[in-house]
Amino acid sequence: MSLPPLRPVLSRLTAAPQTMLHAVAGRHLPSRLRGRTVLITGASSGIGEATAHAVVARGAHVLLVARRTDELARVRSAIEADGGRATAYVCDLTDPAETDALVAQVLAEHGAVDALVNNAGRSIRRSVRNSFDRAHDFERTMAINYHGPVRLTLGLLPAMVEQRSGHVVNVVTWGVQAKSPKFAAYIASKTALDTFGRILGREFLLDGVRVTNVRFALVRTPMIGPTSLYDKAPAMSPETAAERIVLALEARPASINTAAGTALGLFTNFAPAASDLVFAVADRLLPDSSR
Ligand SMILES: NC(=O)c1ccc[n+]([C@@H]2O[C@H](COP(=O)([O-])OP(=O)(O)OC[C@H]3O[C@@H](n4cnc5c(N)ncnc54)[C@H](OP(=O)(O)O)[C@@H]3O)[C@@H](O)[C@H]2O)c1
Repeated sequence: MSLPPLRPVLSRLTAAPQTMLHAVAGRHLPSRLRGRTVLITGASSGIGEATAHAVVARGAHVLLVARRTDELARVRSAIEADGGRATAYVCDLTDPAETDALVAQVLAEHGAVDALVNNAGRSIRRSVRNSFDRAHDFERTMAINYHGPVRLTLGLLPAMVEQRSGHVVNVVTWGVQAKSPKFAAYIASKTALDTFGRILGREFLLDGVRVTNVRFALVRTPMIGPTSLYDKAPAMSPETAAERIVLALEARPASINTAAGTALGLFTNFAPAASDLVFAVADRLLPDSSR
């Protein structure tokens, strides 16, 4: 049996200090994104749009993916007006044939992408008791939050392995740790992606491919618009969220978490009965969203 190469193992073991170093000094370090190709899904709005601008500011060529042609053109024009390089691809990632065609076109035009940010997604906030006739909510969240990014990742991964370098960033939620009521469809689909990412990271570590799950709390984007409860809740700006994704792309840790998400995850794992009671009461106190 041959020993694994030491460098990737050591750099994974030191991922936390590296992340801290980048968080503190990142702006003063040369960016590993300079001259790299970064594909961002859901780049027509919110976190994906802000991330596109942020990676271009670090010298990357960004590939923008979403369904709305006009919004993609708007984002691309804004990047080009600032002197950056962007290419737009219209694709519905819930459509397997469109996703396969996107993979083929991207590989033909650019070769391997250096980083893939699986950011496109949709959230549904609805309790299970109000979903008895809504199995489609569970199917459509899985389609865009899990099956789409998995298919895209499988398509782009072989070229990353061949060039012995690549990075997959999954944009998920602190809900994968907290397991918040009213989000069964959404959090289950994001948990599937989060788990896929962790296993992928283990299987491909020695091939030079890294995987990072970025678990966000609330971010002020069009996605949270339908939930009036969030109108006055504290929320991160899309630009701050984008900087967190840049941190993920530069330091490449296994995950980036919020303190609250980590605390709720510990509470859920180490005090299951107490956490169930607290969340059950909170569930009864908070109304469902209007849509
Ligand atoms: N906002 C939050 O509080 C929050 C918290 C944690 C995690 N997140 C995650 O962050 C990610 C970005 O969300 P956001 O808050 O920035 O929301 P957003 O502004 O609504 O953006 C969602 C993006 O996904 C794209 N998209 C949706 N369905 C698609 C499909 N079938 N094919 C291709 N692209 C599709 C949309 O573009 P088109 O409509 O043009 O296709 C849009 O660009 C999501 O994965 C979300 O779950 C958000």
